[in-house]
Amino acid sequence: MKIALVTGANTGIGYEIAKQLAEKNITVLLGARDARKGQTVAKNLQETGLDVRFVKLDVSQSKDINEIKNYIENEFGKLDILVNNAGVFLDGEWFGNNTETVLMKTLRDTFDINYFGAVELTQTLLPFIKKSEAGRIVNISSASGSFGVHLNPEHWLYALKPYAYSASKTALNQFTVFLAHALRDTNIKVNAVHPGWVQTAIGSERAPLTPAEGAKMGVELAILADDGQSNTFSETGNQLPW
Ligand SMILES: NC(=O)c1ccc[n+]([C@@H]2O[C@H](COP(=O)([O-])OP(=O)(O)OC[C@H]3O[C@@H](n4cnc5c(N)ncnc54)[C@H](OP(=O)(O)O)[C@@H]3O)[C@@H](O)[C@H]2O)c1
Repeated sequence: MKIALVTGANTGIGYEIAKQLAEKNITVLLGARDARKGQTVAKNLQETGLDVRFVKLDVSQSKDINEIKNYIENEFGKLDILVNNAGVFLDGEWFGNNTETVLMKTLRDTFDINYFGAVELTQTLLPFIKKSEAGRIVNISSASGSFGVHLNPEHWLYALKPYAYSASKTALNQFTVFLAHALRDTNIKVNAVHPGWVQTAIGSERAPLTPAEGAKMGVELAILADDGQSNTFSETGNQLPW
């Protein structure tokens, strides 16, 4: 039995990743910071026959992370797939460059969730991922975190420089590269993905992709074959510059 944990899975891309993994007969722990929202969506998925279990998980809370660790230890003793999807966009505006003015609170709150949350959760669960025959860690990043994108005036995201969100994703990318290196002699694969511009609270209804489409690449990386890639940053199969 394969076990996956998806964070921020009560809605948007995370919900779709959780659903699509469960449709592949994987037992999915559906993480949500709001118990009412998480329980409701987990129950709806269970009613369609999927093995989805709600877990209360605010990734910025060490207490929640430790409770998940205990739950996984007692219930399964291993974790096969971790999808660090939970994220926030707190800059307010996508357009422009707020680097000179962004509030420290905005930066700290963004990093707490988009970066520190993913790092603490991953470090805490790593002993259980190491017990998997084929551990997979997927970090849902963003092209906004790419230096290559922000140094390329031709790129459509070049003019969009919300500093807190982008820097938190750059840090998540660095975590991906360093963790993949640290685990290079194991069977664990660590990859980052830009899901595309997706119709969610973060992406807005103007985005071209549905959440189901935005989930696709994350799901592919979560179930990579043993000869699949590690230490990559991609969007719909194409490599993105770090
Ligand atoms: N949509 C896009 O175009 C796009 C593009 C690039 C990257 N991404 C990334 O994709 C990921 C998913 O975002 P989305 O577009 O699906 O947006 P979304 O619909 O706003 O979903 C974000 C999810 O993260 C959860 N979350 C926020 N803070 C959390 C915390 N402290 N602990 C646990 N969960 C928390 C939210 O829970 P609540 O419902 O309780 O707020 C929600 O479930 C994010 O990492 C985002 O940066 C999105």
